Amino acid sequence: MAIDTTTGMIDIDSEAAPTVEQDRLYRLWEEGNWSAKSLDFSQDAVQWREGLDDSQRRAFLWNYALFLDGEESVTVTLNPFMQAVQRYEDRIFLATQIADEARHHVFFDRFLREVAGIGTSYAETLDIMRQGLTWGYNQVFTELDRVADQLRLHPDRPPLLAQGLAIYHLVVEGMLAHTGQHFMRDYCTKHTMLPGFATGINLVARDESRHIAFGIQTLRELVANSADCKRAAIAELNKVLPWAAGVFTPPNLDWSYIEAFGYTPAEVFAFGLRSVVTKLRRAGIAPDEVLALVKLGAHRTPPAEQAQLALALVEGGIIGTAAPPRMTAATLDALFTATRYVADWTQPRHPDLDATIQWLFDDAPPRYLVLGATGGTQVVQGRAATPRLTLRCTAADWGRIAGGRLNQQQALLSRRLRLSGDLRFALRLPQILPV
Ligand SMILES: [Fe+2]
Ligand SMILES: [Fe+2]
Repeated sequence: MAIDTTTGMIDIDSEAAPTVEQDRLYRLWEEGNWSAKSLDFSQDAVQWREGLDDSQRRAFLWNYALFLDGEESVTVTLNPFMQAVQRYEDRIFLATQIADEARHHVFFDRFLREVAGIGTSYAETLDIMRQGLTWGYNQVFTELDRVADQLRLHPDRPPLLAQGLAIYHLVVEGMLAHTGQHFMRDYCTKHTMLPGFATGINLVARDESRHIAFGIQTLRELVANSADCKRAAIAELNKVLPWAAGVFTPPNLDWSYIEAFGYTPAEVFAFGLRSVVTKLRRAGIAPDEVLALVKLGAHRTPPAEQAQLALALVEGGIIGTAAPPRMTAATLDALFTATRYVADWTQPRHPDLDATIQWLFDDAPPRYLVLGATGGTQVVQGRAATPRLTLRCTAADWGRIAGGRLNQQQALLSRRLRLSGDLRFALRLPQILPV
């Protein structure tokens, strides 16, 4: 069933759910209107003071910071989408979504002011809460602003609309907010905590199910009718997904922000990855078309395994953080697992390729990659007998290059990365191991 008739929630989590027409989405909005100003937070205020410990309050506040700023941001950035869509049905639906996002802002603001005692106006509460935002979060939302600005300037370019839907509806709503709402709702239900907040967040999630359904459907149409739109959406995903990992990452990589609720970081990452892959599939984009997901093995391993790899890359300072890389053996293992996935993925484009690439790190044990090996690409620790190409650099610089924080060409020009061996073969490296 596409719509749960008791809750009004649209199924956005299964791959086979049918399309819900725009007019029906609008009708559901009319039928499900609710008042953020009328929620009763009196019990919540007591529980906030007496039923939670400091670490839980701190963890909730970090989550609220993401939501408060996020809801404010998506209220403003949705406007250009209205100019870019063509049908009246779509414009009318988007008008309801802008109203919803403003209501979500009011909901989080009220809770923060009245229950947590933070700030005395919209502006002051936002200012205070913004101090808790992390680098990954800021990267994602700066990019959302940039894409929305482009769409405002060029509402007649469908690839820009596809790009906008990819970051706004599929990543920010379908992956990040959906995951945050899921764990907050689950916690409040399991522990019968914060009843006013629990009522509100369930209503927020119901609104979001309409928004995400709209985004999936609209993107699917664009992707099905235009290769340019599909390319633009995929390029946007490759850009934003490594930052998105940082939105799930607490300040200073302090996982107690997540564990305070009784969840593990791996559970959160796995939920997010499963969520985005499901929605992409419904929009007509397979995980093996998105390099950022291929690196995590999303085309061949279950979400729990992808989550472990993503976490190791975050902890190693490769993705999702501005911290310098920490090139432990675990980080190098994760990095080379991702490299192997990418090499296997590009292998059909170079069916006759048979070569070994050696990495000699100034400060870590060497590793090499065997391409064209029977049974798939292999990563081996140590020195190969006859490598076709040898790369020399610090392990941290290789981490920066692999994570897209150091441009490979610039690293070569500045001699931070040195090559030896078959230099004609080196020219093929961006096709064999795209970053
Ligand atoms: Fe929202
Ligand atoms: Fe939304």
